[in-house]
Amino acid sequence: TVQAKVAALLAQMTQEEKIGQLIQYSQPGAETGPATRSDVAKEIRAGRCGSILNAVGAEQTRAMQQLAVEHTRLKIPLIFGFDTIHGFRTIFPINLAQAASWDLAAIELSERIAATETAAAGIHWTFAPMVDITRDPRWGRVMEGSGEDPWLGSAIARARVHGFQGDDLSRLDTVLACAKHFAAYGAAQAGRDYFTTEVPEITLRDIYFPPFKAAVDAGVGSFMAAFNDLNGVPASANRWLMTDVLRHEWGFSGFVVSDWQSVKELLAHGIAADPAEAARLGLNAGVDMDMEGRIYGPQVADQIKAGAIDQRRLDEAVSAILAAKFRLGLFEDPYRYSNEQREKETMLRPEHLEVARDLARKSCVLLKNENAALPLRANAKIALIGQLAHTTRDLLGEWRGRGQEEEAISIQTALEEAFPQRVTYVEGVKTMGPDRSGFAAAIAAAEQADVVVAVMGEGWFLSGEAASRTSLDIPGVQAELLHELRQTGKPVVLVLMTGRPLALGPVVEDVDALLLAWFPGTMGGPAVVDLLTGKFNPSGKLPVTFPRNVGQVPIFYNHKMTGRPIDPKDPDYRFRSRYVDSPNSPQFPFGFGLSYTKFDYSKAKVRSKTLQPDGVQQVSVRLSNEGKREGTEVVQLYVRDVAGSVTRPVRELKGFQRVTLKPGESRDVTFTLRPMDLAFHHADMKFAPEAGEFEVFVGGDSTAPKVGGFEYRE
Ligand code: IFM
Repeated sequence: TVQAKVAALLAQMTQEEKIGQLIQYSQPGAETGPATRSDVAKEIRAGRCGSILNAVGAEQTRAMQQLAVEHTRLKIPLIFGFDTIHGFRTIFPINLAQAASWDLAAIELSERIAATETAAAGIHWTFAPMVDITRDPRWGRVMEGSGEDPWLGSAIARARVHGFQGDDLSRLDTVLACAKHFAAYGAAQAGRDYFTTEVPEITLRDIYFPPFKAAVDAGVGSFMAAFNDLNGVPASANRWLMTDVLRHEWGFSGFVVSDWQSVKELLAHGIAADPAEAARLGLNAGVDMDMEGRIYGPQVADQIKAGAIDQRRLDEAVSAILAAKFRLGLFEDPYRYSNEQREKETMLRPEHLEVARDLARKSCVLLKNENAALPLRANAKIALIGQLAHTTRDLLGEWRGRGQEEEAISIQTALEEAFPQRVTYVEGVKTMGPDRSGFAAAIAAAEQADVVVAVMGEGWFLSGEAASRTSLDIPGVQAELLHELRQTGKPVVLVLMTGRPLALGPVVEDVDALLLAWFPGTMGGPAVVDLLTGKFNPSGKLPVTFPRNVGQVPIFYNHKMTGRPIDPKDPDYRFRSRYVDSPNSPQFPFGFGLSYTKFDYSKAKVRSKTLQPDGVQQVSVRLSNEGKREGTEVVQLYVRDVAGSVTRPVRELKGFQRVTLKPGESRDVTFTLRPMDLAFHHADMKFAPEAGEFEVFVGGDSTAPKVGGFEYRE
């Protein structure tokens, strides 16, 4: 067994060799060539390094592996890690966009492809999935997660872990996954990256933890400790988080890597007075591997000597790392991932690109479509406007692995192919800056056209790590041009690119149709055009709320009731939980998204009036396609616990199904609710359902109507 092999190896290791396994260095850069940093090479040869991040390519990883395997006493192979976040070379839509597909099979498949390409570049381990719940769109890393909902987030976490790892880590189409960033990194105050988080334990457990727990249950092999201070104890020093919850409560048996220097940052946080204390806090908390921190090392040895770190804790950390290396098959053949021929044959395979196109189409969300502006008529003369119609780097978004902009197909290229001789492209406006000099040409093009397609939004660099914003508008003067295009009287279609929910304000009024494309990846251009032409019917639904204005943030659908909710019969009454200058409702709610066809919900039924602890409740609804095209609807089930021992959200997602119907077709859709689906954490942190009344809502978004209720009886 792996355990026996680990124990046998551990018994031969010196303390220095053990500590070496906990150390990870970054080797950025060259895709080819063995240009290893000389300081890193020295550490590897000396057996003082267990892992490398950012080394890429069969040639480079082989050269580094050689240093470990041929020059160290015990020949322990390195484990190579890399950020394969939404694809390695074939770039899929950003993760938030993928979540808008609500298509777990498609997401899992994209991760398997990402794993195949990653593994073919000599890499064994990805720092993904990022499963942070995100309720604040100012935070730039919203783009990397699955949005605001723990139920959807957990389902996607499972799909991603399984996509990356499969059932056998030693296969060459799988890589070790890493659930990150544990925990509550997405709750950074005011959306400012790396900033403090203060989240009550009950909210951690009900909202932020579930996708992490789902990743553990799906067998994720590693975790990453978050950068943030969590309730006064930074995650990378938080023993309660890394050991009590993760290992003891959830039974996680993999290893935990720090974030980039996050153990060292315990000094900056002001919780460690010197590097030795940082090492002690990090390792004792449960952080096994130190990413590029140079904090573990002699400090750990000194702390063991001083009795501040237990030898058993060191053994435990080393064992977890070695176990991953055994599971990956690295002891059998440390070079098995580094094969130049396979690398060449694996990247950007046509079938990978086809999956990327499919997922991009499923990820776009149609937010508005009036006056039948979309799909575009077959012979339409199109004025295509906006910098983003042309650029390919933006399609890839942040964290684009090894995706190359030359390999992505722009919206302009794809549209010109679909409408030969019918497209006039005028840039008109850049994503940023005050330059209006292109407006006149754009307006002239619009006047000559039947329809305007404007591609506007954020450039790729405005979201991702260290890309927090205080404003959520479309940057620069893009919205101004849009307004002027509107004055031409021509139908205006906006294709919106963004890595986060934006507060669109008057932009929504200035367009006939609004297609949210996010950052759609290598095949983004053809995918968007498939939707614009109607070759594919939009089916995406928002995994995150779009606010009306930045002042509403944080805004999310599963908020609490308050003692003074707005009375629908008297919505303007002042002394209610409301604003004097904005409605409470968002611009676009969680779960929302339109189609070119029309879906009707009828005959909703909650099967029984009561639910017992050993029983199940069934909720069904008839979905009918009343339009003229085939389409896919994401049917959503929400539940409200009317009165609990602690206050409960106004509603919570408890199920969803993607249903494809031909025109005129109807189908009965049934959901099964089990008592544990109603469970939540009580004041004493017990996780259980409580007896009482529950309301049930079914529909196409989080404002779905109430269709019935039942009583849970213990
Ligand atoms: O994996 C990332 C993490 O999400 C942010 N800091 C750097 C790590 C390694 O690149």
